[in-house]
Amino acid sequence: MRVNLEQAIAKLKLGEAVAIPTETVYGLAADANNDQAISKVYAIKKRSANNPLIVHIASSAQVANWASDFSTIAQKLAKAFWPGPLTLVLPAQAHVSNILRANQPTVALRVPNHPTTLNILQQSGLALAAPSANAHTQLSPTTAAHVTASLGAHVPVLDGGACKIGIESTIVAVEGNHWRILRLGMISEAAIEAVVKQPANKSDRVLPVTPGQQPLHYSPNTPMQLFSSRKAMQAFAAQQADCIALVIGQGRLTNVDTLCLSDNAELAAERLYDTLHQIDALQKKVLLVEMPPNTVAWAAIQDRLARAAHKKT
Ligand code: TXA
Ligand code: MG
Repeated sequence: MRVNLEQAIAKLKLGEAVAIPTETVYGLAADANNDQAISKVYAIKKRSANNPLIVHIASSAQVANWASDFSTIAQKLAKAFWPGPLTLVLPAQAHVSNILRANQPTVALRVPNHPTTLNILQQSGLALAAPSANAHTQLSPTTAAHVTASLGAHVPVLDGGACKIGIESTIVAVEGNHWRILRLGMISEAAIEAVVKQPANKSDRVLPVTPGQQPLHYSPNTPMQLFSSRKAMQAFAAQQADCIALVIGQGRLTNVDTLCLSDNAELAAERLYDTLHQIDALQKKVLLVEMPPNTVAWAAIQDRLARAAHKKT
């Protein structure tokens, strides 16, 4: 069900869940101060109760409402990247809902860079708990149509067009002087290090691991196989009926339907999930994917492809 801005705000204020656009992927939003509303998000997504939600806020001025420690490092990162595709995991204030943070001592915060959603946050005065607006383990949605296809027509969706970044935010845990990446997005580790001016702390003992980072995630329905060369893809395709290929840049495999992703990492990220949604619709037996180059610019896309190809058990 499509809703406009006023309807979205009215529903959110009434404690309903509404899918909203962001620059990364669509989120399934609910009032972050209303446990009943938050529970609806978990139920609609079929998300396990031990996987916490990101709270979307209008500006960094609101961090103090949620976090008990907004350290210098965290402030630098907020200043450099907000509004934008960065989520900060910070020590939580005691009052923050335990359902929302899945009993973690921390809370995840993000100021999204999407005009419609910033409007909602500013006009409503709400903070919005929002995971990606897809059913558990499915592909994240980058259009309103993807949301409806995954969650059903009864879920209200505010259509804000196709998402510009296209993959989920970079999540960074910060506590005092320590920081660590929990999930890579289009903001790279190098970009964060350049702002913080100090290397990440890789020890699990200092900062939390993300409970929701199971290897299987972000998956299309079509079984996927990754290849480091087109030659190997072609050889595999010769032995396998009913496959489809996804390559980076130009070109196609012989006798195999082939889709192309841009050889520019930013453009490829923007189109990645929509391309995988299109491929799913074709109901092929196997999807052969050419791995992108091993460079910083492609690191987040490599991460998503590796998770998407992880075998379902
Ligand atoms: O770009 C994004 O981050 C999108 C848009 C909608 O903002 N949101 C998103 O949410 O990807 P979700 O729920 O699909 O992924 C959020 C990840 C999950 O893996 C969750 O476990 C982790 O963030 N997370 C949330 N709160 C956390 C916390 N307090 N500590 C550690 N990890 C946390
Ligand atoms: Mg998600």
